[in-house]
Amino acid sequence: MVKSKRSSWASRGTFILAAIGSAVGLGNAWRFPGLAAKHGGGMFLAVYLAALFAMGIPLLMMELSIARKFHRGAGDCFRGINRKTEFVGWAATANAFVIVTYYAAVFGWVLLMTVYAVKFAGMTGDSEAASKLFFEVTETTGVIEGFGIPLPVLAALIVGWILIYWCIRNGAKSVGKVVKYTVFIPVLLLIVMAVKGCTMPGAADGLKKLFVPDYNALQDPSLWIDAIGQVFFSLSIMMAIMFAYGSYLNEKANIAVDAVIIAVSDAAISVLSGIVMFSTMGGVGMLDNMTDSGIETAFIIYPQTIVNLTDSGVFNAVFGVIFYLMLVTLAIDSAFSIVEGISASVSDKFKLDPKKTTRGICIIASVISLLYATRAGLAWLDIVDNWTNQINLILIGVLECIAVGWCFSTEKVVKQINRNTVKFSMPLQWFDLSVKYFSPIALSVLFVWNMYNLLVNKHGHYNADYKFWAEIIAGWVVSALVFVSGFFIRIIINHKKKNGFVEDEIIWEEEQ
Ligand code: PFF
Repeated sequence: MVKSKRSSWASRGTFILAAIGSAVGLGNAWRFPGLAAKHGGGMFLAVYLAALFAMGIPLLMMELSIARKFHRGAGDCFRGINRKTEFVGWAATANAFVIVTYYAAVFGWVLLMTVYAVKFAGMTGDSEAASKLFFEVTETTGVIEGFGIPLPVLAALIVGWILIYWCIRNGAKSVGKVVKYTVFIPVLLLIVMAVKGCTMPGAADGLKKLFVPDYNALQDPSLWIDAIGQVFFSLSIMMAIMFAYGSYLNEKANIAVDAVIIAVSDAAISVLSGIVMFSTMGGVGMLDNMTDSGIETAFIIYPQTIVNLTDSGVFNAVFGVIFYLMLVTLAIDSAFSIVEGISASVSDKFKLDPKKTTRGICIIASVISLLYATRAGLAWLDIVDNWTNQINLILIGVLECIAVGWCFSTEKVVKQINRNTVKFSMPLQWFDLSVKYFSPIALSVLFVWNMYNLLVNKHGHYNADYKFWAEIIAGWVVSALVFVSGFFIRIIINHKKKNGFVEDEIIWEEEQ
């Protein structure tokens, strides 16, 4: 194994910050508050926390500990536990690749809006103008037809990719340096925004909506579905990321405790952004406008709130810049973590130089992400986002649980999780129940539900009017490629073997 050459975290704190940085992303800022609004505030929070402890934390521990054991990316980790499950790691890696192509585009939009937010200064009270700014700047139309990339969007995308690459150019070493800023700055900005929000007259209505549980919400099965989906998405699991981050851990790492710190911090930041959203939207009397669509919230709804915050255009514009800057700093460490996940998977398997691999991935992904920068970009993004998150991610979760729970051994993994823990340890029964039963069953239900919604009952924010061929290509074909990626990797490896390449044997050796 290539333990000695592998980059590793400078300290325990660096690892925890990097993992929090990855977990805390746009999902916390714009999806969590919207879902809470949809599902009876406090009730959503309660179900979310229950799902976090029952399923999210055990699976986060599982990914980190397997990766720490092998010091390998996702593909090889799944080969290590059982040769037949290697494809699961590649499906996670391939899906992560698809995700980063559009996440980077969203990152570019957010960068662009940080600059254009100064225009809010001249829009005081004009909600309509505020809600149109994003479309004016990006020229995105929401339909599949449309070519050309507006220059500012292209520039923002390029800047976004340069920033992403710069942060991970030296793997764990450079990640460790930037996460100090990319984790604390958004929290600071959220606190500044929360202070403004909570001192507004209508804020109490908003906070009541966020924290007081509406018990009727329990009757809606989509509450459970959304809460569980959000837990998995928010922890950045099933995206190859936590395998890469876990693979840089040393033998002394206390995974049982660190995973809880990461998960609780992630949830706390979701609640903090909930406080910001609910208090400010309550403050301007727009609570009923909240939606669970992230893009809509950030680029259409929230701008309306911004221009109605005060009578001072300058103040509103500054608040707008702070809001988008908060999103930039939140998104960047999620974006580079996913590139790191893909890079670790590929470079470990093919024994490539990690730096060159990262560079190659950034170049290929950035070219693909141009698609989302076109005038048809939003429509393509909507399709790809729907398939990668609602279908692929969930199915990968089921497969990961089956691979570890049923094709390997939960006892061995728990031993690894609890290896260095002194006080708190992960109980075997809890882990076992979660990985073998709760999580795969819950995720399977989620999968069926999402499939039903997609095929039978097209609803929600997913627009049913896209061209059929576009859904076939960006949806089904991409998904199929994700799940057969392991097969292609095998073909390439077998071909390379004929030319003298030696594939590493990865074996789970028990510690003495
Ligand atoms: N945990 C991240 C979030 O909540 O935004 C999920 C994520 C999405 C991570 C996309 C990385 C990424 F590229």
